[in-house]
Amino acid sequence: MRIVMIGSGYVGLVSGACLADFGHHITCVDKSEAKIDALERGEVPIFEPGLDAIIEHNRSAGRLDFSKDLAAPVADADVVFIAVGTPSRRGDGHADLSYVYAAAREIAAAVSGFTVVVTKSTVPVGTGDEIERIFREEFPGKDIAVVSNPEFLREGAAITDFKRPDRIVIGTEDPRATEVMREVYRPLYLNEAPLYFCERRTSELIKYAANAFLAMKITFINEIADLCEQIGADVQKVAKGIGMDKRIGDKFLHAGPGYGGSCFPKDTLALVKTAQDYDSPMRLIETTVAINDNRKRAMGRKVIAACAGSVRGKKIAVLGLTFKPNTDDMRDAPSITIIQALLDGGAAVHVYDPEGMQAAKEMLGPVTYGNDPYEIAEGADAIVLVTEWDEFRALDFKRLKSTMKNPVVVDLRNIYPVAEITRHGFSHFAVGKKT
Ligand code: UGA
Repeated sequence: MRIVMIGSGYVGLVSGACLADFGHHITCVDKSEAKIDALERGEVPIFEPGLDAIIEHNRSAGRLDFSKDLAAPVADADVVFIAVGTPSRRGDGHADLSYVYAAAREIAAAVSGFTVVVTKSTVPVGTGDEIERIFREEFPGKDIAVVSNPEFLREGAAITDFKRPDRIVIGTEDPRATEVMREVYRPLYLNEAPLYFCERRTSELIKYAANAFLAMKITFINEIADLCEQIGADVQKVAKGIGMDKRIGDKFLHAGPGYGGSCFPKDTLALVKTAQDYDSPMRLIETTVAINDNRKRAMGRKVIAACAGSVRGKKIAVLGLTFKPNTDDMRDAPSITIIQALLDGGAAVHVYDPEGMQAAKEMLGPVTYGNDPYEIAEGADAIVLVTEWDEFRALDFKRLKSTMKNPVVVDLRNIYPVAEITRHGFSHFAVGKKT
């Protein structure tokens, strides 16, 4: 099958590389010359474990190539995926679809013969209908089916998520498109991944509903964590206790500093706006968004409280900046708000992150970047763990204690056993437990 991926960002690159790995021929297209040039030199512009090896392997096997030009590869394609960005529109929180519609018009101008155009970008309900209208009215005579196929990849685990998905959602009622999509995902189907066919609008909503539900689940456990701190219960044990009920499930119940990233904040906001537009408000999600925003600021106050109520003139060492481990993505990361609160409080903030420091430099205020946890902890009044990178799990607390000014650990991801930290003489503050 000849497949073209429009947009070589996170979703486009991962999906393109994985589909090539399954034996399809893929061309990844992007308007950014710099990005395509880099990819052609063998440089992968994003950090995703395992992705560079898959790209390299499939390029040398001749199944994966890159192009700045859309028209030529699209003319030969059976399937064209739209995987361009849908950022939050400035001012109103709606998803900005201008890139999607521009891509759709360029694709329609270029196709020859029956072609399936698939939205993989997260697009609001009705976008597929609008693309179909553009095709019908502006490009009559072109034989194109429009399908929705949302992506459920997690950054940092994207390759496994793509190759071993819980489900593949495909929104189409067109029998020819159904056959083509079965063929695209046949290798995954053989892995027993269920293909779930439904109407296009339903499929578009499934993506938003899934992300909103997960964001709500995290927010629920974060509020339980606050309550645990007040009443002297342990949120990790509450999460385990409720998660053993299969109706609830044990995933996405880790209390922490609030969700961030390029998806949950944007998608929850877009769903709220859509629901308001259709006069069917989603109060649970509106509240989820508000609670999560407040939480990031509250975490800044929590650190200040752990430092005896003031960080003025104190040195604070922040471990982890990205919105979660195994990514270099800083978008909507809780670290940004927490660090701002510490700077506002008069602290000298020293930070370290294994992959995120490049991106952080454009987002954080005047902080000092260090080379490892021990360097930034020297003379510090507190260590604050914000992102749970593996390399922070086995820190040498004896060594840290000997170099810090005040032995205080604020663990916003609950990765350190209380007993171990206090045994080394640290004051220990966690999330959702009295320590
Ligand atoms: C999320 C979804 O999990 C994917 O299924 C979806 O495809 C993706 O958005 C998207 O729409 O593209 P992602 O944003 O990469 O994936 O990361 P997650 O692992 O979901 O984490 C999101 C945030 O929630 C992070 O800040 C993480 O630290 C936080 N989180 C997650 C918690 O605080 N607690 C948890 O139990 C789980």
